Amino acid sequence: MECMEALLSRRSIRHYLDRCSVELEKIRKALEAAHWAPSGKNNQPWRFVVVLEREVREQLAQLTVSGRIIREAPVAVAVFMDREVSYHREKDVQSIGACIENMLLAFHCQGLGAVWLGEILKNREKVETVLKVPPSWEFMALVSAGHPARDGSSTRRPLEEVVVWFDNGD
Ligand SMILES: Cc1cc2nc3c(=O)[nH]c(=O)nc-3n(C[C@H](O)[C@H](O)[C@H](O)COP(=O)(O)O)c2cc1C
Repeated sequence: MECMEALLSRRSIRHYLDRCSVELEKIRKALEAAHWAPSGKNNQPWRFVVVLEREVREQLAQLTVSGRIIREAPVAVAVFMDREVSYHREKDVQSIGACIENMLLAFHCQGLGAVWLGEILKNREKVETVLKVPPSWEFMALVSAGHPARDGSSTRRPLEEVVVWFDNGD
């Protein structure tokens, strides 16, 4: 898929085909894309836990109003920030955001659908316990992915509403 086309056509996908598992190679590619995101001082603060096991996904599903999505999607990737390598919280969180967007785009480019789930953050500590991560790993978001059963739909405000230009033509 051409780069601009991929960026502009990605949508959050919240419905997935039944019994359709995702090839491990596609998950690996999405993780690699995430890992190649930019980060301040190139500190690469992201850490990932890939959850394919239905039982563990069920435990995560119980921690958010978006539980139906986590149950339905065959893949859940929990994204963490490692406080041990963190040097500036705001910048590290921004790097995590960049890595999540790379992951969403990589799933999309491979014909899969994904969604960034943040509501589950209200149960950050419970997620960390369920996934048994080291104490320095702080849960940031969950990405659910699978084969899309429905298109996503979303809109944006006109660009003019959100952009200011300083341009006197020189
Ligand atoms: C920080 C963040 C948190 C989000 N949390 C959720 C969530 O908990 N549940 C959900 O269904 N979508 C969630 N989303 C997806 C947004 O709802 C979605 O990106 C937005 O509506 C725009 O739609 P689009 O991604 O299809 O363009 C989240 C997105 C971001 C960036």
